[in-house]
Amino acid sequence: MKIAVFHGSPRKGNTYKATKIFLDELTKYRDVQYTEFFLPEAMPEFCTGCQLCLGNSNERCPHSQYVTPILNNIINSDALIFATPHFGACSMSSCMKNLLDHLDFLTMNVAPRVELFKKKAFIITTGAGSIAAIKPIKKYLKNWGINRVYSLGFRMFIDRWDKMSQPKQKRFEKKIRRTANIFYHARQEYPYISTIFMYHMSKFILRKYVGIGKYPYEYWKENGFFNKRPF
Ligand SMILES: Cc1cc2nc3c(=O)[nH]c(=O)nc-3n(C[C@H](O)[C@H](O)[C@H](O)COP(=O)(O)O)c2cc1C
Repeated sequence: MKIAVFHGSPRKGNTYKATKIFLDELTKYRDVQYTEFFLPEAMPEFCTGCQLCLGNSNERCPHSQYVTPILNNIINSDALIFATPHFGACSMSSCMKNLLDHLDFLTMNVAPRVELFKKKAFIITTGAGSIAAIKPIKKYLKNWGINRVYSLGFRMFIDRWDKMSQPKQKRFEKKIRRTANIFYHARQEYPYISTIFMYHMSKFILRKYVGIGKYPYEYWKENGFFNKRPF
């Protein structure tokens, strides 16, 4: 199983630690290999909002030198992991959001990739509001048509993992390892109702008018998405 891992913070702190335990457990299975992307290094430019990726092939993105290798890796992986600390009211880190903005052309009503409909993904967050940070990432991934999105949020009220009591560290570690095993064995399931809904909505919208331009319509037509559900 090939996995693309996105670390959403340059600080190798709580989220990194949780992600490493998760990966350590997964690599007990011999077929697991992973590629790590460290943000912001892997995506050092901010999305400029030019919308070139929404109205044209994503290669027109001014930052395609970073986007293309990430996209290829996502397409060639069987599973994806997104790890981010929780910042502010209910959000992911800015580098994680920036990555997702750069990949927004994958959304159902623009240029979804068929390969993504088979994949599973995992979101790891830390921070007291970690559950709130999971929600928007999940929404992005569901909009891409990812088959199943799993998550684990650690409500930790502490800035460093090793400041937690030993029993608490052990409890967290046990939970991470147990969830990693569940994730490894998770099989492709029936698509989310929301994915089916998004597909039909997008089909309706793209047929009626061309929105941002002709590109999404042409992409859908070329890929046969108007004739047949791609998942
Ligand atoms: C800018 C910033 C904002 C934060 N906002 C929150 C917050 O609103 N709620 C919360 O519970 N923790 C907040 N935290 C704390 C982190 O979410 C928490 O310590 C997390 O585990 C850090 O992960 P890391 O060690 O991987 O960086 C914030 C931290 C930073 C740096």
